[in-house]
Amino acid sequence: MEKTKVAIVGLGTVGTGVARLLLDYGDRTARHAGRTLWLEKVVVRDLHKPRAIRLPQGVLTDQLEDVTANPEIKAVAQLIGGLEPARSIMLRLLESGKDVITANKALLAEHGGELFDRARELGRTIAFEASVAGGIPIVTNISQCLSANQITSIHAILNGTSNYILTRMEEDQCDFAEAVAEAQRQGYAEADPTMDIDGTDAAQKLAILAHLAFGARVNWRDIPRRGIQTVEADDLQYARQLGYRIKLLAVAELIDSGLQLYVSPTLVKIGTPLAEVRGAYNAVSVVGDAVGRVFFHGLGAGQMPTASAVVADLIDVVVGRAPITFRTLELWSQRYDRLKPPSPEQMPGRFYLRFNVEDRPGVMAELTSVLGRHQISIASIIQHPGSNDDPGVVPLVIMTHQTSEGAVLSALEQIKHLSCVQGGNVVLRVRS
Ligand code: NAP
Ligand code: HSE
Repeated sequence: MEKTKVAIVGLGTVGTGVARLLLDYGDRTARHAGRTLWLEKVVVRDLHKPRAIRLPQGVLTDQLEDVTANPEIKAVAQLIGGLEPARSIMLRLLESGKDVITANKALLAEHGGELFDRARELGRTIAFEASVAGGIPIVTNISQCLSANQITSIHAILNGTSNYILTRMEEDQCDFAEAVAEAQRQGYAEADPTMDIDGTDAAQKLAILAHLAFGARVNWRDIPRRGIQTVEADDLQYARQLGYRIKLLAVAELIDSGLQLYVSPTLVKIGTPLAEVRGAYNAVSVVGDAVGRVFFHGLGAGQMPTASAVVADLIDVVVGRAPITFRTLELWSQRYDRLKPPSPEQMPGRFYLRFNVEDRPGVMAELTSVLGRHQISIASIIQHPGSNDDPGVVPLVIMTHQTSEGAVLSALEQIKHLSCVQGGNVVLRVRS
């Protein structure tokens, strides 16, 4: 059988999974590729670091040149995180004639324009299925299978670590820090888990999906985002009492003022598909004008689900499917202007607000009059019992009707100066 030589750069969580699939299940990849994908080289930084996989003699190297200078290696899975040296290594690989497969959404969200333009100039391909939603084939589905549609909205859970943390906190009463440490142990989290927790990772993935679905070249930093760091165990419990779960949602939706984009912890009605996504699973709910709603669900992080997407890309690259798609889509071309999403102030929505307030007469009236002055209509108010440590202060949860984020933020600015408010302001969105 014909043999195509491939390589891996970076032998961490995902790189190890890819090596495993290529070495242990070569017959499977050969059947789908019509040739053997031969793992010729794996490049690491430190040859002496213990590895979770045994590679055949002569495969492991710490010299990138063993790949770039070998014309027989056609495709490289570059599986190192962060921006540098990932960017320079990708450019070196492309310039030495390799097609590159990546799972690095941070790199694409930051330098996609430069890297894709360079790949096109050189007649090379970059494939990136694993960069969004791990094992869910959402890049292929949006860019190819749904291409007859005008997509009108995407509501997605795109960060496995955050979803894992929220699930553990809700179901096992696990402490936030303990849940983060477990997500790291499981290999879900980024090298710096702050990027998972503060919404950065989800915003970078949303920027990629928005580009594929809406043709919008967005700087991920322009996407308004909140992470799960302000969500407390009490909020999960209060939301549940109201019939909701809290999920870190990434949303791209066509509205009157343009393409609304945001990442925010959001109350999602229990029983709806997004509310039932647990652990490190991701989900993407897409609405297209012809197809209606389609829902994708699967593991969004972790070694083998992500490796599954990388190896599928390797196969697509070596058989020639990915290069056709890459040329046709002209993604991230810097010829196109960047889109500036509407500012958060203009974004409509319903909100969950929690304040810690003094437990005395008149407090409710003070708060509701500020909300009223900002035209914010209240759907429900629940005062919860205070803690034994501070019985004079109680949590007050308010759910609003439809309003704008601008109105909520300027009301909060006044509310936080009221003497009855003792901090603890939490603002979450509510999915209508
Ligand atoms: P990881 O476990 O930290 O592994 C990264 C690997 O890259 C490490 O083995 C590291 O080497 C290696 N590396 C760094 N610089 C290098 C260099 N100059 N030359 C050669 N190797 C180098 O990260 P990961 O979880 O596999 O993630 C890799 C990428 O996939 C990231 O962009 C991440 O965002 C993305 N991703 C991860 C997941 C997941 O579930 N983990 C899912 C989807 C996408 P050392 O071993 O020497 O430190
Ligand atoms: N850290 C990422 C997550 C990995 O938790 O979703 C998958 O991109």
